[in-house]
Amino acid sequence: MKALILSGGKGTRLRPLTYTGAKQLVPVANKPILWYGIEAIVAAGITEIGIIISPETGGEIEQVTGDGSQFGAKITYILQDQPLGLAHAVKIAQPFLGDSAFVMYLGDNLVQSDLGAFVNHFKDQHLDAMTLLCQVPNPSAFGVAKVDETGKLLQLVEKPKDPPSNLALVGIYLFTAGIHEAIASIQPSARGELEITDAIQMLLNWEKNVEAHQIQGWWLDTGKKDDLLEANRVILDEYTDAEQHGEVDDQSQVIGRVHIEPGAKIINSTIRGPVVVGADCHIENSFIGPYSSIADNVTIIHADLEHSVLLEGTEVKNVHQRIVDSLVGRRAKLTEAPQRPTAIRLMLGDDSKLELPM
Ligand code: DAU
Repeated sequence: MKALILSGGKGTRLRPLTYTGAKQLVPVANKPILWYGIEAIVAAGITEIGIIISPETGGEIEQVTGDGSQFGAKITYILQDQPLGLAHAVKIAQPFLGDSAFVMYLGDNLVQSDLGAFVNHFKDQHLDAMTLLCQVPNPSAFGVAKVDETGKLLQLVEKPKDPPSNLALVGIYLFTAGIHEAIASIQPSARGELEITDAIQMLLNWEKNVEAHQIQGWWLDTGKKDDLLEANRVILDEYTDAEQHGEVDDQSQVIGRVHIEPGAKIINSTIRGPVVVGADCHIENSFIGPYSSIADNVTIIHADLEHSVLLEGTEVKNVHQRIVDSLVGRRAKLTEAPQRPTAIRLMLGDDSKLELPM
Protein backbone atom coordinates (compact mmCIF):
# COMPACT_ATOMS: atom_id res chain seq x y z
CA MET A 1 0.00 0.00 0.00
CA LYS A 2 1.17 3.56 -0.77
CA ALA A 3 0.13 6.98 0.53
CA LEU A 4 -0.58 10.24 -1.27
CA ILE A 5 -0.51 13.46 0.75
CA LEU A 6 -2.06 16.53 -0.85
CA SER A 7 -0.04 19.63 -0.03
CA GLY A 8 -0.65 21.77 -3.07
CA GLY A 9 -3.47 24.28 -3.25
CA LYS A 10 -3.42 27.99 -2.44
CA GLY A 11 -4.12 28.29 1.31
CA THR A 12 -6.09 31.52 0.89
CA ARG A 13 -7.84 31.19 4.25
CA LEU A 14 -4.63 31.47 6.28
CA ARG A 15 -3.41 34.62 4.58
CA PRO A 16 -1.23 36.57 5.24
CA LEU A 17 0.84 33.69 6.68
CA THR A 18 0.39 31.69 3.50
CA TYR A 19 1.59 34.49 1.21
CA THR A 20 5.11 33.57 2.20
CA GLY A 21 4.75 29.92 3.14
CA ALA A 22 2.77 26.73 2.66
CA LYS A 23 -0.26 26.30 4.92
CA GLN A 24 0.75 22.68 5.51
CA LEU A 25 4.00 23.93 7.08
CA VAL A 26 2.34 26.27 9.59
CA PRO A 27 3.39 24.75 12.91
CA VAL A 28 1.10 23.27 15.52
CA ALA A 29 2.96 22.83 18.83
CA ASN A 30 6.11 23.83 16.90
CA LYS A 31 5.80 21.00 14.34
CA PRO A 32 4.53 21.45 10.75
CA ILE A 33 0.95 20.19 10.33
CA LEU A 34 2.08 18.06 7.38
CA TRP A 35 4.49 16.07 9.55
CA TYR A 36 1.67 14.78 11.77
CA GLY A 37 0.14 13.19 8.66
CA ILE A 38 3.47 11.67 7.58
CA GLU A 39 3.99 10.24 11.07
CA ALA A 40 0.47 8.75 11.16
CA ILE A 41 1.04 7.12 7.75
CA VAL A 42 4.40 5.65 8.76
CA ALA A 43 2.86 4.42 12.07
CA ALA A 44 0.25 2.60 9.93
CA GLY A 45 3.11 0.71 8.24
CA ILE A 46 3.15 2.66 4.93
CA THR A 47 6.53 3.99 3.89
CA GLU A 48 6.14 4.82 0.18
CA ILE A 49 4.67 8.33 0.24
CA GLY A 50 3.94 10.72 -2.63
CA ILE A 51 3.42 14.38 -1.75
CA ILE A 52 1.51 16.66 -4.12
CA ILE A 53 3.09 20.13 -4.17
CA SER A 54 2.34 23.41 -5.93
CA PRO A 55 4.86 25.55 -7.89
CA GLU A 56 4.47 28.37 -5.27
CA THR A 57 5.22 26.44 -2.06
CA GLY A 58 6.54 23.08 -3.23
CA GLY A 59 10.21 24.04 -2.89
CA GLU A 60 9.79 25.00 0.75
CA ILE A 61 7.86 21.81 1.56
CA GLU A 62 10.55 19.70 -0.10
CA GLN A 63 13.36 21.52 1.65
CA VAL A 64 11.82 21.27 5.13
CA THR A 65 10.49 17.72 4.81
CA GLY A 66 13.32 16.11 2.83
CA ASP A 67 13.48 12.64 1.30
CA GLY A 68 11.53 11.04 4.14
CA SER A 69 14.50 9.37 5.86
CA GLN A 70 13.88 11.33 9.09
CA PHE A 71 10.46 9.62 9.25
CA GLY A 72 11.62 6.18 8.07
CA ALA A 73 9.82 6.71 4.74
CA LYS A 74 10.62 7.30 1.06
CA ILE A 75 9.00 10.50 -0.20
CA THR A 76 8.40 11.29 -3.88
CA TYR A 77 7.34 14.88 -4.68
CA ILE A 78 4.73 15.31 -7.40
CA LEU A 79 4.21 18.77 -8.90
CA GLN A 80 0.64 19.86 -9.62
CA ASP A 81 0.83 22.98 -11.81
CA GLN A 82 -2.57 24.32 -10.73
CA PRO A 83 -4.95 23.44 -7.88
CA LEU A 84 -7.54 21.79 -10.13
CA GLY A 85 -9.04 19.63 -7.40
CA LEU A 86 -8.37 16.69 -5.13
CA ALA A 87 -9.26 14.16 -7.84
CA HIS A 88 -6.99 16.01 -10.29
CA ALA A 89 -4.15 15.54 -7.80
CA VAL A 90 -4.80 11.78 -7.78
CA LYS A 91 -4.87 11.79 -11.58
CA ILE A 92 -1.44 13.36 -11.92
CA ALA A 93 -0.09 11.00 -9.22
CA GLN A 94 -1.09 7.92 -11.26
CA PRO A 95 2.48 7.17 -12.47
CA PHE A 96 3.58 7.14 -8.80
CA LEU A 97 0.56 5.14 -7.55
CA GLY A 98 0.52 2.53 -10.34
CA ASP A 99 -1.84 -0.35 -9.50
CA SER A 100 -1.34 0.07 -5.79
CA ALA A 101 -4.08 0.68 -3.22
CA PHE A 102 -3.40 3.88 -1.32
CA VAL A 103 -4.29 6.17 1.55
CA MET A 104 -5.05 9.73 0.44
CA TYR A 105 -4.35 12.25 3.20
CA LEU A 106 -5.07 15.98 3.00
CA GLY A 107 -1.95 17.76 4.22
CA ASP A 108 -3.84 20.36 6.29
CA ASN A 109 -5.87 17.84 8.33
CA LEU A 110 -5.03 16.70 11.86
CA VAL A 111 -6.80 13.58 13.11
CA GLN A 112 -6.69 11.66 16.37
CA SER A 113 -7.36 8.16 15.09
CA ASP A 114 -5.43 4.99 14.57
CA LEU A 115 -4.92 5.01 10.81
CA GLY A 116 -3.48 1.47 11.03
CA ALA A 117 -6.85 0.10 12.22
CA PHE A 118 -8.61 1.68 9.19
CA VAL A 119 -5.96 0.33 6.81
CA ASN A 120 -6.39 -3.20 8.24
CA HIS A 121 -10.19 -3.01 7.94
CA PHE A 122 -9.93 -1.76 4.34
CA LYS A 123 -7.65 -4.67 3.41
CA ASP A 124 -9.52 -7.37 5.37
CA GLN A 125 -12.90 -6.40 3.90
CA HIS A 126 -11.51 -6.02 0.34
CA LEU A 127 -13.14 -2.59 0.05
CA ASP A 128 -12.91 -0.46 -3.09
CA ALA A 129 -12.98 2.76 -1.08
CA MET A 130 -13.31 3.87 2.51
CA THR A 131 -14.07 7.34 3.82
CA LEU A 132 -14.02 8.70 7.35
CA LEU A 133 -16.80 10.88 8.72
CA CYS A 134 -17.09 13.23 11.66
CA GLN A 135 -20.08 15.12 13.07
CA VAL A 136 -19.63 18.89 12.66
CA PRO A 137 -21.76 21.94 13.46
CA ASN A 138 -21.11 23.53 10.00
CA PRO A 139 -21.39 20.73 7.39
CA SER A 140 -21.79 23.19 4.47
CA ALA A 141 -18.04 23.93 4.72
CA PHE A 142 -17.16 20.31 3.86
CA GLY A 143 -18.01 17.29 1.77
CA VAL A 144 -21.12 15.79 3.39
CA ALA A 145 -22.32 12.19 3.59
CA LYS A 146 -25.85 10.84 3.62
CA VAL A 147 -26.05 7.49 5.39
CA ASP A 148 -29.00 5.19 6.19
CA GLU A 149 -30.01 4.12 9.72
CA THR A 150 -27.43 1.28 9.65
CA GLY A 151 -24.65 3.72 8.75
CA LYS A 152 -24.49 2.56 5.10
CA LEU A 153 -23.19 5.28 2.80
CA LEU A 154 -25.84 6.44 0.32
CA GLN A 155 -24.64 9.72 -1.15
CA LEU A 156 -21.81 12.26 -1.01
CA VAL A 157 -22.07 15.96 -1.85
CA GLU A 158 -19.36 18.62 -1.83
CA LYS A 159 -20.06 21.76 0.25
CA PRO A 160 -23.87 21.62 -0.10
CA LYS A 161 -25.95 24.71 0.75
CA ASP A 162 -28.56 22.40 2.17
CA PRO A 163 -26.58 19.57 3.81
CA PRO A 164 -28.32 16.16 4.04
CA SER A 165 -26.64 15.45 7.44
CA ASN A 166 -24.05 16.84 9.84
CA LEU A 167 -21.51 14.19 8.83
CA ALA A 168 -18.50 15.80 7.17
CA LEU A 169 -15.93 13.94 5.11
CA VAL A 170 -12.62 13.89 6.98
CA GLY A 171 -9.57 14.46 4.77
CA ILE A 172 -8.42 10.83 4.87
CA TYR A 173 -9.56 8.32 2.24
CA LEU A 174 -8.55 4.77 1.30
CA PHE A 175 -8.76 3.59 -2.30
CA THR A 176 -7.87 0.71 -4.57
CA ALA A 177 -6.60 1.52 -8.07
CA GLY A 178 -10.26 1.41 -9.19
CA ILE A 179 -10.58 5.09 -8.20
CA HIS A 180 -8.63 6.09 -11.34
CA GLU A 181 -11.43 4.83 -13.60
CA ALA A 182 -13.99 6.75 -11.52
CA ILE A 183 -11.88 9.93 -11.78
CA ALA A 184 -11.61 9.48 -15.56
CA SER A 185 -15.41 9.52 -15.77
CA ILE A 186 -16.18 12.73 -13.82
CA GLN A 187 -16.34 16.36 -14.96
CA PRO A 188 -15.12 19.50 -13.13
CA SER A 189 -17.61 20.84 -10.57
CA ALA A 190 -19.23 24.29 -10.56
CA ARG A 191 -16.09 25.66 -8.80
CA GLY A 192 -13.98 24.25 -11.64
CA GLU A 193 -12.36 21.43 -9.65
CA LEU A 194 -12.28 17.67 -10.18
CA GLU A 195 -13.86 16.64 -6.86
CA ILE A 196 -12.84 13.41 -5.15
CA THR A 197 -16.34 13.45 -3.63
CA ASP A 198 -17.81 13.06 -7.16
CA ALA A 199 -15.41 10.21 -7.95
CA ILE A 200 -16.45 8.34 -4.78
CA GLN A 201 -20.11 9.02 -5.67
CA MET A 202 -19.36 7.38 -9.02
CA LEU A 203 -18.08 4.26 -7.20
CA LEU A 204 -21.34 4.24 -5.22
CA ASN A 205 -23.33 4.54 -8.48
CA TRP A 206 -21.39 1.56 -9.84
CA GLU A 207 -22.33 -0.36 -6.64
CA LYS A 208 -18.71 -0.80 -5.63
CA ASN A 209 -17.79 -1.74 -2.10
CA VAL A 210 -17.54 1.68 -0.39
CA GLU A 211 -17.72 2.09 3.39
CA ALA A 212 -17.81 5.13 5.63
CA HIS A 213 -16.69 5.12 9.26
CA GLN A 214 -17.44 7.73 11.86
CA ILE A 215 -14.30 8.63 13.78
CA GLN A 216 -14.49 8.94 17.55
CA GLY A 217 -11.53 11.22 18.39
CA TRP A 218 -10.99 14.82 17.34
CA TRP A 219 -10.47 16.02 13.79
CA LEU A 220 -9.14 19.45 12.96
CA ASP A 221 -9.08 21.08 9.56
CA THR A 222 -6.48 23.78 10.14
CA GLY A 223 -7.67 26.10 7.37
CA LYS A 224 -8.36 29.21 9.49
CA LYS A 225 -6.81 31.06 12.43
CA ASP A 226 -9.24 29.84 15.07
CA ASP A 227 -9.05 26.25 13.78
CA LEU A 228 -5.29 26.49 14.01
CA LEU A 229 -5.37 27.81 17.59
CA GLU A 230 -7.78 25.02 18.50
CA ALA A 231 -5.46 22.44 16.90
CA ASN A 232 -2.59 23.94 18.86
CA ARG A 233 -4.58 23.69 22.11
CA VAL A 234 -5.57 20.06 21.52
CA ILE A 235 -2.07 18.93 20.48
CA LEU A 236 -0.36 20.76 23.37
CA ASP A 237 -2.87 19.25 25.80
CA GLU A 238 -2.25 15.77 24.53
CA TYR A 239 1.45 15.58 23.73
CA THR A 240 3.48 18.21 25.63
CA ASP A 241 6.20 16.75 27.85
CA ALA A 242 8.06 18.58 30.60
CA GLU A 243 11.55 18.25 29.09
CA GLN A 244 13.66 21.32 29.68
CA HIS A 245 16.85 21.63 27.66
CA GLY A 246 17.24 25.42 27.84
CA GLU A 247 18.32 27.60 30.80
CA VAL A 248 15.79 28.69 33.41
CA ASP A 249 17.16 31.16 36.00
CA ASP A 250 16.34 31.13 39.74
CA GLN A 251 13.90 34.04 39.44
CA SER A 252 11.72 32.13 36.96
CA GLN A 253 8.90 29.71 37.59
CA VAL A 254 8.05 26.94 35.16
CA ILE A 255 4.77 25.28 36.09
CA GLY A 256 3.18 22.17 34.56
CA ARG A 257 4.15 20.63 31.23
CA VAL A 258 6.53 23.06 29.58
CA HIS A 259 8.88 21.80 26.86
CA ILE A 260 11.94 24.01 26.38
CA GLU A 261 14.36 23.45 23.50
CA PRO A 262 18.16 23.84 23.75
CA GLY A 263 19.61 27.34 23.70
CA ALA A 264 16.41 28.97 25.06
CA LYS A 265 16.90 31.36 28.02
CA ILE A 266 14.11 32.05 30.52
CA ILE A 267 14.90 35.02 32.79
CA ASN A 268 12.69 36.32 35.62
CA SER A 269 9.57 34.96 33.93
CA THR A 270 6.68 32.61 34.60
CA ILE A 271 5.62 29.93 32.14
CA ARG A 272 2.48 27.95 32.87
CA GLY A 273 2.04 24.85 30.69
CA PRO A 274 1.14 23.29 28.45
CA VAL A 275 3.59 25.40 26.47
CA VAL A 276 6.41 24.67 24.00
CA VAL A 277 9.37 27.03 23.70
CA GLY A 278 11.61 26.63 20.64
CA ALA A 279 15.41 26.68 20.40
CA ASP A 280 17.36 29.90 21.11
CA CYS A 281 14.35 31.86 22.41
CA HIS A 282 14.88 34.72 24.86
CA ILE A 283 12.07 35.21 27.38
CA GLU A 284 12.59 37.88 30.02
CA ASN A 285 10.32 39.61 32.59
CA SER A 286 7.30 37.97 30.98
CA PHE A 287 4.37 35.64 31.59
CA ILE A 288 3.59 32.88 29.10
CA GLY A 289 0.23 31.29 29.78
CA PRO A 290 -1.25 27.91 28.81
CA TYR A 291 -1.69 26.72 25.21
CA SER A 292 1.08 28.82 23.74
CA SER A 293 3.59 27.64 21.14
CA ILE A 294 6.70 29.76 20.81
CA ALA A 295 8.80 28.81 17.76
CA ASP A 296 12.63 29.03 17.48
CA ASN A 297 14.49 32.35 17.90
CA VAL A 298 11.57 34.25 19.41
CA THR A 299 12.27 37.16 21.82
CA ILE A 300 9.66 38.08 24.44
CA ILE A 301 10.55 40.86 26.90
CA HIS A 302 8.11 42.55 29.29
CA ALA A 303 5.04 40.93 27.82
CA ASP A 304 2.18 38.72 28.85
CA LEU A 305 0.57 36.21 26.50
CA GLU A 306 -1.54 33.06 26.43
CA HIS A 307 -3.34 30.73 24.01
CA SER A 308 -1.24 32.03 21.13
CA VAL A 309 1.12 30.80 18.44
CA LEU A 310 4.26 32.83 17.67
CA LEU A 311 6.20 31.77 14.60
CA GLU A 312 9.96 31.86 14.11
CA GLY A 313 11.93 35.00 14.83
CA THR A 314 9.03 37.02 16.28
CA GLU A 315 9.88 39.83 18.73
CA VAL A 316 7.44 40.99 21.40
CA LYS A 317 8.81 43.78 23.61
CA ASN A 318 7.20 46.02 26.24
CA VAL A 319 3.60 45.26 25.36
CA HIS A 320 1.43 46.24 28.31
CA GLN A 321 -1.81 44.51 27.36
CA ARG A 322 -2.17 40.74 27.56
CA ILE A 323 -1.88 39.08 24.12
CA VAL A 324 -4.47 36.30 23.74
CA ASP A 325 -5.85 34.06 20.95
CA SER A 326 -3.22 35.36 18.54
CA LEU A 327 -1.31 33.92 15.62
CA VAL A 328 1.81 35.93 14.82
CA GLY A 329 3.75 35.30 11.58
CA ARG A 330 7.48 34.87 11.15
CA ARG A 331 9.78 37.75 12.15
CA ALA A 332 6.83 40.00 13.11
CA LYS A 333 7.70 42.70 15.67
CA LEU A 334 5.36 43.94 18.39
CA THR A 335 6.73 46.80 20.51
CA GLU A 336 5.55 49.84 22.48
CA ALA A 337 5.38 53.21 20.76
CA PRO A 338 8.34 55.22 22.15
CA GLN A 339 6.96 58.78 22.11
CA ARG A 340 3.16 58.88 21.98
CA PRO A 341 1.70 56.06 24.06
CA THR A 342 -1.84 56.85 22.94
CA ALA A 343 -0.99 56.42 19.26
CA ILE A 344 -0.33 53.18 17.44
CA ARG A 345 2.17 52.75 14.62
CA LEU A 346 1.68 49.87 12.25
CA MET A 347 3.31 48.04 9.47
CA LEU A 348 0.84 45.25 8.73
CA GLY A 349 1.02 42.86 5.79
CA ASP A 350 -1.84 42.39 3.30
CA ASP A 351 -4.86 40.63 4.87
CA SER A 352 -3.55 41.15 8.42
CA LYS A 353 -6.10 41.36 11.22
CA LEU A 354 -5.62 43.58 14.26
CA GLU A 355 -8.15 43.80 17.09
CA LEU A 356 -7.55 46.86 19.25
CA PRO A 357 -9.08 47.53 22.69
CA MET A 358 -11.64 50.39 22.62
O1 DAU B 1 -10.78 18.87 5.18
C1 DAU B 1 -11.78 18.01 4.70
C2 DAU B 1 -12.39 18.54 3.43
O2 DAU B 1 -11.32 18.66 2.48
C3 DAU B 1 -13.49 17.60 2.90
O3 DAU B 1 -14.61 17.59 3.76
C4 DAU B 1 -13.94 18.03 1.50
O4 DAU B 1 -14.85 17.08 0.99
C5 DAU B 1 -12.74 18.14 0.57
O5 DAU B 1 -13.10 18.62 -0.71
C6 DAU B 1 -11.68 19.07 1.16
O6 DAU B 1 -12.23 20.39 1.18
P1 DAU B 1 -11.34 21.73 1.35
O7 DAU B 1 -12.05 22.86 0.71
O8 DAU B 1 -10.97 21.88 2.80
O9 DAU B 1 -10.04 21.39 0.52
P2 DAU B 1 -8.78 22.32 0.27
O10 DAU B 1 -8.97 23.10 -0.98
O11 DAU B 1 -8.47 23.06 1.55
O12 DAU B 1 -7.64 21.25 0.01
C7 DAU B 1 -7.31 20.25 0.93
C8 DAU B 1 -5.83 19.90 0.80
O13 DAU B 1 -5.51 19.46 -0.51
C9 DAU B 1 -4.88 21.07 1.08
O14 DAU B 1 -3.75 20.59 1.79
C10 DAU B 1 -4.48 21.58 -0.30
C11 DAU B 1 -4.51 20.30 -1.12
N1 DAU B 1 -4.89 20.48 -2.55
C12 DAU B 1 -6.09 21.06 -2.85
C13 DAU B 1 -6.49 21.23 -4.16
C14 DAU B 1 -7.82 21.83 -4.51
C15 DAU B 1 -4.05 20.04 -3.55
O15 DAU B 1 -2.94 19.49 -3.24
N2 DAU B 1 -4.42 20.20 -4.86
C16 DAU B 1 -5.62 20.78 -5.21
O16 DAU B 1 -5.91 20.87 -6.42
